[in-house]
Amino acid sequence: MSGAGLDKTAYDDLPDGVLVTDAVGMVVLLNPAAERILSTSADAVVGRDLREVLPLADEQHRDWWECTDPYGGLPTRTRQPERRLQVSRGPLLGRELLVTAAYVRDDDRALQRVVVSLRDNRARERTDRSRADLVSTVAHELRSPLTSVKGFTATLLAKWDRFNDEQKQLMLQTVNADADRVTRLLTELLDVSRIDAGRLEMRKQVVDLAVAVQKAVDGRIAGGDPEDRFVVNVTGELPEIWADPDKVDQVIGNLVENALRHGEGTVTVTLSPWQDGAEVVVEDQGVGIPPDTAARVFTRFWRGNKGRGTGLGLYIVKGLVEAHGGSVEVGSADGGGARFRFVLPAGTPPYDS
Ligand SMILES: Nc1ncnc2c1ncn2[C@@H]1O[C@H](COP(=O)(O)OP(=O)(O)OP(=O)(O)O)[C@@H](O)[C@H]1O
Ligand SMILES: [Mg+2]
Repeated sequence: MSGAGLDKTAYDDLPDGVLVTDAVGMVVLLNPAAERILSTSADAVVGRDLREVLPLADEQHRDWWECTDPYGGLPTRTRQPERRLQVSRGPLLGRELLVTAAYVRDDDRALQRVVVSLRDNRARERTDRSRADLVSTVAHELRSPLTSVKGFTATLLAKWDRFNDEQKQLMLQTVNADADRVTRLLTELLDVSRIDAGRLEMRKQVVDLAVAVQKAVDGRIAGGDPEDRFVVNVTGELPEIWADPDKVDQVIGNLVENALRHGEGTVTVTLSPWQDGAEVVVEDQGVGIPPDTAARVFTRFWRGNKGRGTGLGLYIVKGLVEAHGGSVEVGSADGGGARFRFVLPAGTPPYDS
């Protein structure tokens, strides 16, 4: 048969690859997405046998077309559910594809054509792998503080009378700090999962960035950081910014904390107008970030050697800034320290009235 009754153009815009054969397995159509997935052209495969054009095997290396036998199998069969299969020969050998097939039959159940749908599995493989990495990293991060909590509490319970008050206090302080670390990690992970799922809730209000920066600095000073480590500059008149104040605090707090913890010397925060919004630059006088690691600092769980953090801070900063339509970048301060710069557009009120 030819492609009679087949509207070829209907497949052109489909994001999934589609390959159609006649009743005996000769390819009659390959849509553009399938051309891309199979790195071939319709001209090169139309007229050839499906089993030759697309040799597929399952996890046990069984030939898929032989197993499912679309051209000779049960006349009641109308489809094959989605399976993950591998190309078993040729230039794409080993490539994973998600494959489904529909058998189009006439009123007498005679096979008319087979429609095979193809999806490239690489994007899904990457997400699966990054999810698996995330789980193992999280498990690892949780284990060390919990091991310490368990160790100290077990020791205290078993040998309470053998320790003096000072020793007990020290152990409890460690337990307390480790519990804080677990809480912080879990809070960060919730932010990460909201960012990854695109489910950040934005409660936009007018935010005064200069006030927010001063509040972050005052908080650090109240927490024991010396006052003379901070300089805040405002150059020019900042516009009204519509943003989520808690998230803006979190961004500024993270950058200031990093400058204190990973940097050295004076932490300078400079605010200026930028396009219709504002620019915030946080600089320190430490060793800075080498240009070849600059791109990596914003990835999940990346941290420098001596860091005791979890490496999620800057990933969250980037996610929060981008959720506001802004951007963040890292460079070098004049003295060689780290220089983080983020910009926020003026934004719009939550409801246009
Ligand atoms: N101001 C800075 N100077 C030098 N290195 C920095 C600076 N800020 C960040 N870094 C480096 O980038 C890494 C990632 O920072 P990030 O804030 O994402 O994680 P963290 O501070 O280690 O942990 P946390 O999740 O607790 O914030 C840090 O571990 C550090 O090595
Ligand atoms: Mg940090």
